[in-house]
Amino acid sequence: KASEFEEEIEKSSSLDELNSIRIKYMGKKGMISLLNKVLGTLSNEERPKMGEAIQNLRNNFETKFTEKANTIKKALKDAALSQKYIDVTLSPYPFNKGSLHPVKKIYDEIVDVFTAAGYSVAQGPEIEDDFHNFEALNLPKSHPARDMQDTFYIDENNIVLRTHTSPVQVRVMESQKPPVKIIAPGTVYRCDYDQTHSPMFHQIEGLVVDKGITMADLKGTLKLFISRIFGDDLDVRLRPSFFPFTEPSAEVDMGCVHCRGKGCRMCKGTGWIEIAGCGMVNPAVFKHVGIDPEVYSGFAFGMGIERIALLKYGIDDIRLFYENSLKFLKQF
Ligand code: PHE
Repeated sequence: KASEFEEEIEKSSSLDELNSIRIKYMGKKGMISLLNKVLGTLSNEERPKMGEAIQNLRNNFETKFTEKANTIKKALKDAALSQKYIDVTLSPYPFNKGSLHPVKKIYDEIVDVFTAAGYSVAQGPEIEDDFHNFEALNLPKSHPARDMQDTFYIDENNIVLRTHTSPVQVRVMESQKPPVKIIAPGTVYRCDYDQTHSPMFHQIEGLVVDKGITMADLKGTLKLFISRIFGDDLDVRLRPSFFPFTEPSAEVDMGCVHCRGKGCRMCKGTGWIEIAGCGMVNPAVFKHVGIDPEVYSGFAFGMGIERIALLKYGIDDIRLFYENSLKFLKQF
């Protein structure tokens, strides 16, 4: 009778118990299976009726069994879930958030100083042609000053990885008539590697072209920049130098950030640290971009961002910037 196993199933409280009930009724020697043996003793008319009744019993058993099994499984799951709980009162701090790379931080600081002073930001390609990287900057093919640049050539004589941000000067002046007042921050490449040189590094170029621009404007601009980044007690001096694209040219020195100009190991006792190259735009460059040097004059400067970062943070190996050790990066 169906009511028999129905009651047993109903009373059972575990999957194990349920399974033994299944064996008891549905197993090979189970009570329902044994009914099949009776079939052989029945007459031809009775047999199909009995067969159908047995099948109904089986179906009935399966339905009840599955229902109960599901109920038990759900109860087990609910019990397990109620053991785990989320403590919503726990503090979400500290967040493990990233931070800006020290080179990017200084990069942004320098860009801010100049944009606040009315400069626009210009950009150019890192894969540059010979004309923009050299020729238009008054560095013709045979010029010995090309040697200084440790160039990565991509194609034997025309395409290079830009060795400085100065080609952006050329690109800006090609497309924009004076007045021009831009900075060009970006990645540059030189075939050089040691404690203070990396084959990939960053520069910021500055270019101002207008009527009546003088070297005094250049020095005032550099002084402003140095005081904003390093503090306004530092002296600035221009030391005569040479770049083919500026005339006159100078090296920019500032009072040593370490000893504030008194003389220490960092500045080799001189009290001065070199931080940029600069000069008045060479008329030869103006001619390449169609600006009349009789009407306009301009100044330009270029500096390495890593170098500024090394000085500002007191780091002595540029390679630390590219190793991406979290121990190092977390300090900024
Ligand atoms: N381009 C020069 C360099 O990379 C720096 C510079 C820029 C000098 C502009 C003068 C004027 O060394």
